[in-house]
Amino acid sequence: MNFKIESALATKEKSSNLKNTQSNIYICPKSEFKSLKKTLEKQLPAWSVKNLEEKTQFLTGQTGPVVIVVLGASTHKAHDNLLNESDYSNARETLGKVAREISLLKSKDVIFNFMNCSDDMITGSLVGLELGLYDFEKSYKLGKTAFTCNGKKVASKLIKNAAEIAVGINQARHLVNLPPNILHPVSYAKEVKKMYAQSKTIKVAIYDQKRLQKEKCGLLLGVGNSAENPPQIVHIKYRPTGAKGKSTALVGKGLTFDSGGLDIKPAAGMRLMKKDMGGSATIVGLSRWLENSGVKKNIDLYLALAENAISERSTRPSDILTARNGATVEIHNTDAEGRLALADAIDMALDLKPEVLIDVATLTGAGKISLGQDIGSLFANDDKLAEKLVLSSQQMGDLMWRMPLYNPYFQAMKSDFADMTNAASTGFGGSITAALFLEKFVGKTKWAHLDIFGWTSGAKPSLVQKGGSGQGVETLIGYFK
Ligand code: BES
Ligand code: ZN
Ligand code: ZN
Repeated sequence: MNFKIESALATKEKSSNLKNTQSNIYICPKSEFKSLKKTLEKQLPAWSVKNLEEKTQFLTGQTGPVVIVVLGASTHKAHDNLLNESDYSNARETLGKVAREISLLKSKDVIFNFMNCSDDMITGSLVGLELGLYDFEKSYKLGKTAFTCNGKKVASKLIKNAAEIAVGINQARHLVNLPPNILHPVSYAKEVKKMYAQSKTIKVAIYDQKRLQKEKCGLLLGVGNSAENPPQIVHIKYRPTGAKGKSTALVGKGLTFDSGGLDIKPAAGMRLMKKDMGGSATIVGLSRWLENSGVKKNIDLYLALAENAISERSTRPSDILTARNGATVEIHNTDAEGRLALADAIDMALDLKPEVLIDVATLTGAGKISLGQDIGSLFANDDKLAEKLVLSSQQMGDLMWRMPLYNPYFQAMKSDFADMTNAASTGFGGSITAALFLEKFVGKTKWAHLDIFGWTSGAKPSLVQKGGSGQGVETLIGYFK
């Protein structure tokens, strides 16, 4: 199985598999539909142009298939205007939905004719195509593609930008989709190292079990020590030439499988838990984008990898573990393992004194209960940082909603035997108490925490392949752009 993802648009279908036709895809915003009709009169019979509806449709023209795509037709609006769909994300969803159908036309030449589209619309469209074409087993491809806007070639920089974003998202999706018998802490770490073996800007360091013992990462070790494949921390060090100033740290939860441990999950709750490395997948996806785009900023990315398994060595409820920073944690529930794994990785990330630290994690079931699959929970101890991330999430259509770090709830994690427990004694406000636990480990550093779901069962039209969603990748891309 492949770990590394490439751009679907850059890898062309073999011409022997294709028909000798030319597909023409016409893409315009809703407001330009009339002028699109005029243009189409050259391609299609007058009666058929007259009857065109303002929606996506497949027709037959003189040289081959004609596809009409109208942007903005289904734009959702939020009640308070705060989560309205951006042009970029509308275009991404609209094109993503039809990408495979375009591929199945099997034309040798595929011409995308954008009409009066903004750069955001074009970028969104291209990202959507790549997302729609991604498939876990085989990628759908197109023949020879050409992109024009109002008759002029689309700038190659724009095409490159879109491919870089899409590779980041698809990389995250793919890692989540890989099964946990293949993607476990040790293989995951190795593959990330391999991914950047030739890189000029990225160096990868692996902290294996022995090293983690030396580093006194008692929490992460406690989570992963009952699995055959022991915990690892992967440090992806991004150092582009010309970057100055303090670095930003990113930390991802990488539970390659979460059985719950001795506090075992019921079958239905365990079924999707290969996705519990979704936060780390988002970070790896982002690292692909960093390397490809060359953003001039020093960034340190950490993956906290472990499997929450069950054996005679399992951590027990009532065990007391000592964190890398010295804090003692009494285990109240072995299924609240993500915050333990993250806490030690966060502490390690603080060694380099980052300006900002952002963690991404499939941390709580409560997150999906409050905001659903498509909206992530954002917690932050700094208003400017929170605002910047929310704004980026809206522009990129990768929505995050700020939740409160309401301190009094921390009381529910008081321990009679240690500095704190790892899970609240009440089930209330689960994503908040999890965030409050993490807050104890970040000190005064500016910090944001994204509690994501990381999985889609079909809600987003562009994610035709169900499974990993790459949630958070675009928000972070927008943040660093
Ligand atoms: N990985 C889960 C959280 C999760 C569950 C994310 C379902 C997305 C979908 C996490 O490790 C967990 O089990 N959290 C518990 C914590 C509880 C025991 C305090 C939860 O949220 O129920
Ligand atoms: Zn768990
Ligand atoms: Zn988990």
